[in-house]
Amino acid sequence: MGNPVATGRKLTEVSIITPCFNEVGNVVQLLDQLTRSLDGAQIDWEVIFVDDDSPDGTAAEVRAQAEHDPRIRCIQRKTARGLASAVIWGLQSAHGNICVVMDADLQHDASIIPDMVQAVRDGSDIAIGVRYDSHNSTAKLAGLSSGWRNRLSRYGNRILNRLLGQQLNDPLSGFFAIRRDVADSSLARLSGEGFKILFDLLYHNRNSKVAQIHFQFSQRAYGESKLEPVVIWHLYCDVASKVLRYAISARFIGFATVGVFGAAIHFSTLFLLLFAGLDFWACQLVATLTAMVNNFLINNILTYSDRRLFGRNLLVGLAYYGAASAVGIIANVGVASYLFTQEGGSTVVSSLSGVFVELIWRYTFASRVIWNRPGRNPSG
Ligand code: GDD
Ligand code: MN
Repeated sequence: MGNPVATGRKLTEVSIITPCFNEVGNVVQLLDQLTRSLDGAQIDWEVIFVDDDSPDGTAAEVRAQAEHDPRIRCIQRKTARGLASAVIWGLQSAHGNICVVMDADLQHDASIIPDMVQAVRDGSDIAIGVRYDSHNSTAKLAGLSSGWRNRLSRYGNRILNRLLGQQLNDPLSGFFAIRRDVADSSLARLSGEGFKILFDLLYHNRNSKVAQIHFQFSQRAYGESKLEPVVIWHLYCDVASKVLRYAISARFIGFATVGVFGAAIHFSTLFLLLFAGLDFWACQLVATLTAMVNNFLINNILTYSDRRLFGRNLLVGLAYYGAASAVGIIANVGVASYLFTQEGGSTVVSSLSGVFVELIWRYTFASRVIWNRPGRNPSG
């Protein structure tokens, strides 16, 4: 074939990056839409599907299509999970100077890609596909499955825009074009958690020139949305961490917040049992165990959603968590008592220092020992 430049063949200008999980029924139609839109606009393109080893055979379907079209590529990941992380992998394997991130579920309208590409060619660093509802011009987030999601995203956007110093209609959109060097400069700093990849990119490129292109968000025809409450949780942790200028990691904020809920559970259980007339020691024991098991399970679902434990590993993890908590309590009481006996030791400061030491110990142990590996998809 020789050198593509020497032979006159153009290099790929645009890389479409499509994270996908259980989207086998959408692959062919998405490729049709891309071909029609991009070939029609005479854009040289490739598409990279980043699949997390979907049990429905999405990757096999993509490879079958790639047999007839070398512009189609597939990364079938067995060692990592998650939407944002999939996008980061795709960006790193892209050939084009303009990358377009797009869902595989046909909710994003491929016909606006040429406009997004043109915006970047014309000098924008990022062009956002803004979801728009033709029936209700104030509610831009059409196609979102429910009213509460709509309301939440409106309040959420306000907070996000303050952090970004911009006035964007849809800073959480999963559909955007970005100049490759702009993405490259921040990839190593992105969190890879949750659904907020665009927000993260915008945050790390706060002076970038942003274009907004509206499109009508479609209903999903095949498959289902993977946006769970856990995604909103990750957004909370991430925004809190950014507000603190990364002085505290998002994961630690999550872990500590779960701890605060745990304390609430502890005291509700304690008072409930005391009210029921049990001995104090029994109430305290049950309350402590309830809060511990609760913290463990919630951390497994939220804080370590990317490393989630299942089945036997879950039970082993709980045993470790219990042992670590026991050690943590000893350290807590030790530190607090020591500080308290020091000259002028204050009750509150001593006690809080003990709690803080315990929290750091438990978090370190949890992150390094209990949840120390990327999780696997249980259905895969
Ligand atoms: N590789 C990979 N791994 N892909 C994933 C994963 C994952 O863990 N989770 C979801 N995807 C893929 C889906 O297959 C789909 O192509 C795309 O990412 C979006 O997932 P959906 O589950 O359809 O998301 P949604 O439609 O509910 O959410 C949309 O709106 C969000 C903001 O409200 C998306 O556009 C998001 O990107 C956007 O942030
Ligand atoms: Mn979707």
